[in-house]
Amino acid sequence: MQAKPEVEAGAARFVPNTRDLAKLRNAAKSCRGCDLYRRATQTVFGQGAPHARVVLVGEQPGDQEDRQGLPFVGPAGGLLDRALAEAGISKRDVYVTNAVKHFKFEQRGKRRIHKKPGRTEIVACRPWLAAELAAVKPRILVCLGATASQALMGSSFSLMKERGKFFQTDWAPKLLVTIHPSAALRAIEHEDRQRLFRLLVSDFKLVARELANGARRARPPMASAASTPPRDSTRRRSV
Ligand code: URA
Ligand code: SF4
Repeated sequence: MQAKPEVEAGAARFVPNTRDLAKLRNAAKSCRGCDLYRRATQTVFGQGAPHARVVLVGEQPGDQEDRQGLPFVGPAGGLLDRALAEAGISKRDVYVTNAVKHFKFEQRGKRRIHKKPGRTEIVACRPWLAAELAAVKPRILVCLGATASQALMGSSFSLMKERGKFFQTDWAPKLLVTIHPSAALRAIEHEDRQRLFRLLVSDFKLVARELANGARRARPPMASAASTPPRDSTRRRSV
């Protein structure tokens, strides 16, 4: 008898054909779409309002998230919450998730050190993100950092060049990329941490303004798009 492979090429075959977030979350627990499930504690699925107007996408769970099974509950999550509050965005409007749903790390003694997910893992995990977006259908999608940006906009997308603008995409009528909150945590100099935090807040304020505009007047999506869509975002989706 032929042995079944333990690792499948990508999450697609584990993703049920449903827009029910609870069912998706449950199915994600047993994903083996890439190697990362082997060493991590559990799948960390997205969390938040099921029909949130804003979806935030981070990179991957960290040490705390891996233990608790929830996204952004560690130090980066604390900073994210402060930035959202300062920009005037209510958590009720937000669904938070990650590009990759298992923690990738390197063991150093007792510590587990975060390791950046690679292209293979990002692509392998993307069907979960696509399913979450199809279920939540956010008006505004915010990529936090390069991993999320590249997962949704392609691997040559430049975060620092494109941050702070809205793009029209197939993922959501408005997509904005900004820095990852960890960038503000990790900066060595106090001034850099302050500057990066202010940058995150100013990008979130664009989101808050867009939410307020949408609430004030019903209008077709993208009536006032700040930027032209990337030419090949659709093609890149399936890379
Ligand atoms: N960093 C992320 O990108 N996601 C989390 O959930 C936590 C830290
Ligand atoms: Fe599946 Fe994503 Fe976890 Fe890989 S990281 S096993 S694709 S849920």
